[in-house]
Amino acid sequence: MEVEGKYYRTIEAIEGQFSVTIIDQTALPFSFNLVRLSSLKDIILAITSMQVRGAPAIGVCAAFGIALACKVDASNESINKARDLLIKSRPTAVNLSWAVNQLSNKLLKMPEDSRLNTAWDWSKNLAEEDVLINQRIGLAGLSILNEINKDKINILTHCNAGWLATIDYGTALSPIYKAVAIGMNIHVWVDETRPRNQGMSLTAWELKNAGISHTVIADNAGGLIMQKGLVDCVLVGADRVGIDGTVCNKVGTYLKALPAMEHKIPFYVAAPRSTFDKNFSMSNQCFEIEERDPEELFMMSGLNENGEVKNIRLGEANGYNPAFDITPAKYITRIICEDGAIKPYDIRSLLSSE
Ligand code: MRU
Repeated sequence: MEVEGKYYRTIEAIEGQFSVTIIDQTALPFSFNLVRLSSLKDIILAITSMQVRGAPAIGVCAAFGIALACKVDASNESINKARDLLIKSRPTAVNLSWAVNQLSNKLLKMPEDSRLNTAWDWSKNLAEEDVLINQRIGLAGLSILNEINKDKINILTHCNAGWLATIDYGTALSPIYKAVAIGMNIHVWVDETRPRNQGMSLTAWELKNAGISHTVIADNAGGLIMQKGLVDCVLVGADRVGIDGTVCNKVGTYLKALPAMEHKIPFYVAAPRSTFDKNFSMSNQCFEIEERDPEELFMMSGLNENGEVKNIRLGEANGYNPAFDITPAKYITRIICEDGAIKPYDIRSLLSSE
């Protein structure tokens, strides 16, 4: 994506230096900063602090974490330790564990002196593949949007499953970028996405940057605007898609699926196949739903009257802060992946044919 006329990816390898630069998503929408990560420790901090976030982006970032661990020590012990630390850093999105497990298993079978270069190239390749896959998701989603026979299409999205959550293009926002590029009239309702406000701070910033019409709404407004006929479809991303089409995504997704079904509004989930997990189903929630620090509920940052970013405290109480929720397959119209827009119940046959 371009920002002020320059092309960026969320994670860029710095050639010859075994370092990467990332866009610091905690600084948006107020400033656009690049941060350099040169060690496993830097990578883990960037993932846990959510400077890098979004399932595909943390998968790529974690793969670079394994490479940077090899830069210091490419032994089996070092790789296994890095793998465990990275998986714990954000446990819900399957893309992260998928990437570090794939890469570590490959490295452990190789001589130590070739591990660093292999890990580096593998991570760069993963980033390239992500870009291509997201373009294919965009095209598959575009054909779905084309089925909505309206002059202007109103799409509701939750959290940020855009360019920033991937290496480029995004998953849920990719069809929107494609549609706008061919002249379709699209307006996006952006859920603010409490408590970290990824909708307000990241999706709204992305859409503004791309010149796409959008309106931020409070998370609780979705039901009303669906009831009023102001939403033509819901389009969200996913952190894990189960074999029975169950979807785990940012907390609040489920609460959008319920009114969407009530008002017969199609509910689409866009995700690459690396987000599919054949061990996960409604009856087997085989992973941890990340519980983040309750402080996130009580603290907010914003600009003061002098244009400086300040944190403010909203209140003080006991808090509970699960970061994701589970939406059963019956609420999902289609899952849009790089191979097309499939019915949630068809994932089982897709995965069993692998
Ligand atoms: O906690 P986050 O901001 O990493 O959560 C992100 C989401 O829930 C996204 O919808 C999901 O990762 C898909 S990103 C293409």
